[in-house]
Amino acid sequence: MEVTRERAWETLTRYTKSQALLRHALAVEAGVRFYARKLGEDEELWAAVALLHDFDYEMHPTLDRHPQDGAAILREEGWPEEVVEAVLSHAEHLELPRDTPLKRTLFACDELAGFVHACGLVRPDGIETLEPKSVRKKLKQPSFASGVHRDEVYAGAELVGLELDEHIRNVVTAMRPIAGELGLRTAAA
Ligand SMILES: [Fe+2]
Ligand SMILES: [Fe+2]
Repeated sequence: MEVTRERAWETLTRYTKSQALLRHALAVEAGVRFYARKLGEDEELWAAVALLHDFDYEMHPTLDRHPQDGAAILREEGWPEEVVEAVLSHAEHLELPRDTPLKRTLFACDELAGFVHACGLVRPDGIETLEPKSVRKKLKQPSFASGVHRDEVYAGAELVGLELDEHIRNVVTAMRPIAGELGLRTAAA
């Protein structure tokens, strides 16, 4: 099977109807794509993996099933092992090695994209003027977006070898062009 963004979107939307989950997929895709471009990697492959990483979460919202049972579906559908393994690697509880740049980048963007999204939702201009400093400040407030695992945000930046501020800036920059699709206020709106 040829791995394309379009195919990944088709699979994702077949299993996922929740707007919040679709937005999460798009936000993570934006971050992962940014790094694919930066590193000269296969953008189509990286985007597909990012879109698919939580594709089964709606039907398997518990860690005894997500993403393991989703992986079985991806295999059945003919997704190559490179895609399936990368999807599986994002899950902390599986403790799989993050031994490729794609796996490291997916992990680094997953929680942070969610957190940046949350920051944007409470700002009058979304993520338009969001700076790393204010993201860091919010990270230190446990009550804000409490579902986001802070340790994974910090570990992610370290895993891709970036200062947290730079990683935040990259992810915010990557998400800005799709702010409208993410339900965030934009300068134009
Ligand atoms: Fe997940
Ligand atoms: Fe995720």
